Amino acid sequence: MLVIGGYGAVGATVTGTLEEWFPGRVVPAGRDVARARRLGGIGVDIGDVPGLGRVLDELADVRVVVLCVEPRDAGPARLCLERGIHLVDVGASHRLLSLVAELDGPAARAGAAAVLSVGVAPGLTSLLARRAHEAVGGARSLDLTVLLGTGERHGADAVRWTVAGLSEPVTARPQRVALPGYGTRTAHPFAFSDQHTVRQTLGIPRATTRLCLDSRPLTAALFGLRRLGALRGTRRPAQQRLFTRAFGMVHLGGDGFALRADAHNGDRHAVRALTGQGQGRVSGLVAAHAARAVYTGRVSAGVHHIEQLDVLADLPERLAAHGVTLWEDENWERR
Ligand SMILES: NC(=O)c1ccc[n+]([C@@H]2O[C@H](COP(=O)([O-])OP(=O)(O)OC[C@H]3O[C@@H](n4cnc5c(N)ncnc54)[C@H](OP(=O)(O)O)[C@@H]3O)[C@@H](O)[C@H]2O)c1
Repeated sequence: MLVIGGYGAVGATVTGTLEEWFPGRVVPAGRDVARARRLGGIGVDIGDVPGLGRVLDELADVRVVVLCVEPRDAGPARLCLERGIHLVDVGASHRLLSLVAELDGPAARAGAAAVLSVGVAPGLTSLLARRAHEAVGGARSLDLTVLLGTGERHGADAVRWTVAGLSEPVTARPQRVALPGYGTRTAHPFAFSDQHTVRQTLGIPRATTRLCLDSRPLTAALFGLRRLGALRGTRRPAQQRLFTRAFGMVHLGGDGFALRADAHNGDRHAVRALTGQGQGRVSGLVAAHAARAVYTGRVSAGVHHIEQLDVLADLPERLAAHGVTLWEDENWERR
C-alpha cells in the first residue's frame, strides 16, 4: 500500500495504523525524499503524474494508493484506477472529488475500487448524514454542522484548504446549533464537499454544511471578516500562502471536534451527533479503515463515497476505542 502524504498530519496516522494491521506492506511517500526514506518510504511528487507512474512500476506490487494530500486534478487518481490499483482519497474539495467520481467507468472496467469522502468532514459527517436521512424516511433537507478545535496543529495542506474555502461564495445563512460538550454555537456556511455529494448519493434535495471553531471570538472574527469581504483575496496564490501561514500559527483552543447532522422530512426531524479529539488523527483512522476495506476486497469495483458503503457504515461505533462518541438524540445537555 502506498500512502502519499504518508508522514503528514493525516497521513502519519494512516501509515502507522496500516503498518500495525499489515506489517511490512505499507510505503509512505512525499516530496521530501530523505524523510520518506528514513521512514522506509519513497519520494513522490503528486504533481508529477508520469513520475508517480514510474514509482508504481518500481514498487510493482502496489494494490492500494491512499492520497493524503490534495492533487491539482484527477490525474493521479486516473493513473491508479486505470492500472487497476484501488484508491482512497482524503481530499475534501467538491470540484476534485467530482472529477474523480467521473472515473467510475474506467475504475469498474479495470477492477479497481475508489473510496472518496474519507475523513471527518467529509467522512464521518457523511455517515451521520446517512443515519439522520434514514431516520426520517428520506430527508428533504439536511443541515450539517462541524466544530473544529483551534488548538490542534492542523497540517499545512489542511490549513490551505480551509483558507481557500473562505473565499468561496456563501449561499446559506448562519445557524444557531447545540453541540455536545460545546453548548449552543453560531455556525457559518462553509465549502465542505459533503453538502454537495449527499445530494447525489442520498438524494437529499437541500443540504448545507456550516462551520464554527471551538473559540467563539475566533469564529466571530473569522466570519465577520468574510462578511466584510476582507477574505476575498485568499483566492490569489500569494495571499492564500500568507493567510495559510498566519492561520497555521493560531492555537487558541483545544483539539476536540464535534459534528452534527439534522435531517428534516415534513414534521419529522432526526439528529445524529459525534464528538472526538484530533480531527487529523481521526481522519487518518477513517482513511486506514477505508484502505483496509479495499485491500481485503470488501469494496466492489467503481468509485464510491463513504456513505454509499455498508462495509464502512459502522465506523462511528468502531472508532469508540479511539475516543469517538456517537450521540443519537438531543439529550446530551442533560447527561
Ligand atoms: N476529509 C477530512 O475530514 C480531512 C481532514 C483533514 C485533512 N484532510 C485533507 O487531507 C489532506 C492532508 O492534510 P494534512 O493535515 O495531513 O496536511 P499536511 O500535514 O500538510 O500533510 C501533507 C503531506 O503531503 C505531502 N505532500 C505535500 N505536497 C505533496 C506533493 N506535491 N506530492 C507528494 N506529497 C506531498 C507532505 O510532505 P512533503 O511536503 O514532504 O511532500 C505531507 O506529508 C489535505 O488535503 C486536507 O484537506 C481531509
